[in-house]
Amino acid sequence: MTYCASAFAVAHANIALAKYWGKADVGLNLPAVPSLSMTLDGMRTETRVKFDSRLSADSLELNGRPQQGKTLERVSTLLQRVRAQAGLDAYAQVTSHNNFPTASGLASSASGFAALALAARKAAGLPDNPEQASSLARHSSASAGRSLYGGYVALDLGQHAARRVCSAQHFPLALSVAVTQEGEKALGSTQGMEHTRLTSPYYTAWVEQAPALTRAIEQAIIAADLTTLGPLVEQSALLMHACMWGAAPAIVYFSPVTLAVLQRVRELRAAGVQAFCTMDAGPHVKVLSAPEQADEVQRALAEVPGVLRCLRCTLGPDAQVHSEPVS
Ligand code: PMV
Repeated sequence: MTYCASAFAVAHANIALAKYWGKADVGLNLPAVPSLSMTLDGMRTETRVKFDSRLSADSLELNGRPQQGKTLERVSTLLQRVRAQAGLDAYAQVTSHNNFPTASGLASSASGFAALALAARKAAGLPDNPEQASSLARHSSASAGRSLYGGYVALDLGQHAARRVCSAQHFPLALSVAVTQEGEKALGSTQGMEHTRLTSPYYTAWVEQAPALTRAIEQAIIAADLTTLGPLVEQSALLMHACMWGAAPAIVYFSPVTLAVLQRVRELRAAGVQAFCTMDAGPHVKVLSAPEQADEVQRALAEVPGVLRCLRCTLGPDAQVHSEPVS
């Protein structure tokens, strides 16, 4: 029998305030540390999945370009899990678009796999179930499990799906992204994490420290207390990067501009602005502040030589899915 069904989903990127780096189980893609993120309104992936039994292979078009190799393989692996669960043997056509730079440490895999998981489940006729969708997305990219929910979201140690910590309204914050480089990152997170686990003497210390730090970050968010939250967020990011710097050879995602932005944010703090940095697997710096101070933060970031542009985000919504009539 011919199967043809399509669905469309939108998911937003997220930035970890308590970082994930390192896997407890590579096969299941379970993190070695808990993490906690904020979902961002300004950075979005839109994905359409069409299962069609007349297709002879899965295909992926990302930002208007057909994809092959590893990128397509990762998408196919997720689609295969959906097919197995739904008892489906149709291949799929996937079209995806990011409204921000792909694979540059700006969390495109998070929104990408979250949108893909939702759209693929819907197109395969599986029931709406955010927990199952989060677990499916997390299996491809652990940070993607967190992008199913809006507001503040945690992925607890040993859990397959993320959980919502609290809504955006509970604690409105702004995140200003200083983009410091164009182009894609040199080393993907999975490879980087395994290399760190195998060679960094600081890896054990990181895995030991992360749970308490994540708990403190969650408490500060629940208390809506930026003065407590900010330094903990910086500590989580810098501990993670220190652990990578300890690998042999070192993994260094920072550029000279990254350090210049860190310095500028310290100066802002000395001048009384509550602004705090976090960095992921890329050279960009994300700066957390109260929404009322975001204009001042953005002006300061834009003045740092080497900062190409600034993106301004607040907290974003849940990922959403729509089924579509098939033509
Ligand atoms: O889920 P991945 O493989 O994209 O790894 C994400 C790693 C960091 O962005 C550096 C931290 C995090 O928790 O998002």
